[in-house]
Amino acid sequence: MSKGIVVLDFGGQYAHLIVNRIRRLCVYAEILPPDTEPERLKDADGIVLSGGPSSVYASDRPPFNAAVLDMGLPLLGLCYGHQLLCLHLGGEVEPGDVMEYGAAALDVAAPEGILKGLSNKEPIWMSHRDLVAAVPPGFRILGATPNCPVAAMGDEERKIYGLQFHPEVAHTVSGMQILENFVDLCGCERSWTMESYIEESAEAIRRQIGKRKVFLLVSGGVDSTVCFLMLNRALGTDRVRGLHIDNGFMRKNETALVERLLGDWGFTNLKVVDASAEFLQAVEGVAEPEEKRKIIGEEFIRVRDRVLEELDLDPDDWLLGQGTLYTDTIESGGTAHAAVIKTHHNRVGVIEQLLAEGKVVEPLSQLYKDEVRELGEKLGLPHHLVWRHPFPGPGLAVRVLCVQGESGDESAAEDAGIAAQLRQSAASVAGPEYHIDVLPLRSVGVQGDGRTYAHPALVTLGSHQRAFLPPSANGDGDGCRGVATGRDGIDWESLEGISTAITNSVPQINRVVIQLGPSHKLNQKLKEGYLTQERLDLLRDADSLVMEALDRHRLMDQVTQMPTVLLPLSSDGAQESIVLRPITTDDFMTARFGRLPVDFLEDVTMRLLALEGVEAVYYDITHKPPGTVEWE
Ligand code: XMP
Repeated sequence: MSKGIVVLDFGGQYAHLIVNRIRRLCVYAEILPPDTEPERLKDADGIVLSGGPSSVYASDRPPFNAAVLDMGLPLLGLCYGHQLLCLHLGGEVEPGDVMEYGAAALDVAAPEGILKGLSNKEPIWMSHRDLVAAVPPGFRILGATPNCPVAAMGDEERKIYGLQFHPEVAHTVSGMQILENFVDLCGCERSWTMESYIEESAEAIRRQIGKRKVFLLVSGGVDSTVCFLMLNRALGTDRVRGLHIDNGFMRKNETALVERLLGDWGFTNLKVVDASAEFLQAVEGVAEPEEKRKIIGEEFIRVRDRVLEELDLDPDDWLLGQGTLYTDTIESGGTAHAAVIKTHHNRVGVIEQLLAEGKVVEPLSQLYKDEVRELGEKLGLPHHLVWRHPFPGPGLAVRVLCVQGESGDESAAEDAGIAAQLRQSAASVAGPEYHIDVLPLRSVGVQGDGRTYAHPALVTLGSHQRAFLPPSANGDGDGCRGVATGRDGIDWESLEGISTAITNSVPQINRVVIQLGPSHKLNQKLKEGYLTQERLDLLRDADSLVMEALDRHRLMDQVTQMPTVLLPLSSDGAQESIVLRPITTDDFMTARFGRLPVDFLEDVTMRLLALEGVEAVYYDITHKPPGTVEWE
């Protein structure tokens, strides 16, 4: 049986794409750390060494077990991996001063072997600084570009190949052909399908569990539901118990819906507990987003322990099951060379401890969202459940932004400084029809593969700083209509340019929003705010209203996810503000902001402003990066 390809991850942005692309060729692939022992790789058909941000000469380069190169397996080094192969096998790598980034044309020496089926000149995608200057003994040059004399090299006898460019990105037009050539050279069976994965994964679950059992936390989203089905299928319902914890941060009526859906499905091994009071107490007075996340993640385990005790189940016998996906691990800094952007609820300290003790089962941990959805459909889950928008484990708790203390004069002065810088840098792109300011709070973003905690910029219309929707949508009648709206709707093209220009040039800004309503200028201040029942209920109502409107306007499929966020921003100290954050994405690692129709925005803004406690409605026009999907 073919074991597929292992991708050793040197921290490159595209490492996960390599795996995803190879699986699309019906060959199993998985990611492992760069210093994986040869013993762990012995069943693989071939190994890919990914790209990475380091230089092969840097003292802090990722550790690598060079014995992997002597295993006799076919190897493919990409970018950093290409240079690493070259250096270890006796070639020369020249440190470069200038970055070569973007499209290039590859002169192909011969359309054979790893480059089979390619034309003489091929569009490729480059992103590197160092260069291979001389190939190792036994290698020959297979391709070059004007700036890169060894863009492709190979030792055909040993089936070892190196490419300076990235075949895994769509801009390398024949990239899939190259990866296909590699898996063929490795002799991989093209038999990996979701059906075969279901069988193999059931085997793997049974091997891992042995005689023990699994206690799975089931939020009811697609990941945990698919995981619950997989475990029941692999182990039988007697050896699996599901626990749905209502943490008080769920959407409106969500717990009842989950209970009904899984009940209808015939699962009698699901227990539902209401722990909302415990969770609320645990986060009382906490404002810092990472602290909130850690407390919530640990509270899940405390509730699990309590329920195990109540049911008289031995925790050593009942392993913790989780529907963790590969992306959860990356963003929590769980792969060796990725930064911590945020700690996902299933990657907090106590869970890391259980993982280290081998007490956690995560059957989906090598999969991406699109693959889990395919798996869900194969397992027979209803389409509408499989395609529900994702909802994070800590739920509305992250989307209720919290602030400790009042914002003082010092931060007001700081904000004024950022605002001045903002206006200056945006003046060249924005034009006089837009006014740009800074909102006096901060939220988490992601830039240059790292976490940021910075301000949102606010774009309004003209010198009167009006909203983008007309007064009719705002329930007030000062007679002015936004210049950027009208028959053609909002000018998203210009706004996208402004958003990118601002976040590229002002480091203190990681997001950009527009004001949808009210139609007049606001002078808002930050107010103290924590996770209280009242604020959670307000956001729950707002979120439910937005979801209902998306459904009514038949827009649910137009966006991949649409968090609704509560900001403690107010001009009267009593009310708060809402942000709409529609995004589209395939893999959640990057995302584009969604462009929703004006009639929907008018409808939803009017309804939100009618909610008691809502003063303003903003709309996030930031891609990821630099913004994350969630605000926190
Ligand atoms: P970000 O905000 O990191 O979100 O761009 C990417 C995706 O991850 C979801 N998310 C979570 N999911 N537990 C989860 O199960 C978490 O702690 C968590 N934090 C973010 C987010 O909703 C989006 O789909």
